[in-house]
Amino acid sequence: MSLAVLASGTGSILAAMVEADLPVALVVADRLCPAVRCAVSHDVEVLVVQRESFGADFDRVGYSTVLADRLTDHAVTMVAMAGFGTILGQPFHDRFAGRVLNTHPALLPAFPGWHAVRDALTAGVGVTGCTVHLATLEVDAGPILAQEEVPVWPDDDEASLHERIKVVERRLYVDTLRSILDGEILLESVFEGAKS
Ligand code: GAR
Repeated sequence: MSLAVLASGTGSILAAMVEADLPVALVVADRLCPAVRCAVSHDVEVLVVQRESFGADFDRVGYSTVLADRLTDHAVTMVAMAGFGTILGQPFHDRFAGRVLNTHPALLPAFPGWHAVRDALTAGVGVTGCTVHLATLEVDAGPILAQEEVPVWPDDDEASLHERIKVVERRLYVDTLRSILDGEILLESVFEGAKS
């Protein structure tokens, strides 16, 4: 397996993967962000496929094609999104169908989208958590591989709750990737099973 990690944020989940000796061959970021520094400091090759626009004129299909091409150039066989801030379009999912993973800071299908932690707090739930899943074209909707609950404390704000969720994500995502590497989770079966 040649694993690429896509990141846009602090890169703390990326760091957990590298420090767990997962075979991270390449890190791709869509902007300059701390995850780039994290990759450099861990001696992992990093590419910034800069996103030129965050507005309505963003060429999602074009960007997704370029990103898929860069990953293909690097012989990447599996992709793990870890806080990646760009929703990727059809060309990317066609190229890597069934081989893209994501972690989401909520118990999907509850609270999909960019503000999952805030939305859980607003809804007043007593328990939220995180989900590792296969990513498909539909955002935060692919087959679930692993989930773990995290309690919401009465004095939590978005930052404190998100940080406690990320502590779990760093372990759960690493463990899930290891299970895939060890052949205990067969992604092809999960992907095909979800289609039928
Ligand atoms: C994680 O909580 C991840 O679930 C979230 O970004 C954070 C990345 O943390 N991703 C999403 O919300 C995607 N919908 P990090 O930058 O510290 O690794």
